[in-house]
Amino acid sequence: MEVKLKTEELDIEGHYGEIGEVLSGEQKKRGLLIHAFQQIQKEYNYLPEDKLEGLSEKLNIPLADVYSTASFYKHFYFKPRGKNIVCVCMGTACHVRGASKVLHELEEEFGVKEGETSPDMSMTLETVGCVGCCGLAPVVTVNEEVVGEVSQGKINEIINTIKK
Ligand code: FES
Repeated sequence: MEVKLKTEELDIEGHYGEIGEVLSGEQKKRGLLIHAFQQIQKEYNYLPEDKLEGLSEKLNIPLADVYSTASFYKHFYFKPRGKNIVCVCMGTACHVRGASKVLHELEEEFGVKEGETSPDMSMTLETVGCVGCCGLAPVVTVNEEVVGEVSQGKINEIINTIKK
């Protein structure tokens, strides 16, 4: 599916309104870039190369600068991601309560390592430092859902949900 950036969203002056008076032309363009990244990633789940090239041309910003701006933010991705994002918490509380085993089981089941996407694109496996609910350790998030006290049974449920 083609992401169409609406014309008004690339209207640099119109986008900022009155506040635009205190921003330099370069600052405005960069701000618009982040907004465009968010839109593209929402549509594709990552930032495809051809879309970044298109942005570079439309905003007249060198492609290297477009990449460098996107790379600055950890939440923009340059490779396709799976339909489901499974994130195993590896913080201290979760580590103590078996997070490594949980991660290993998921790696084995989907044939991926941390940071990779399964060949069928059903999931991307990630890790995180702490998701802020240590009392429920070990914790895994599946997309927006937090799964606490992850047991073997819950690992199986996560696997089944993804494989559906
Ligand atoms: S260490 Fe896992 S939720 Fe805090």
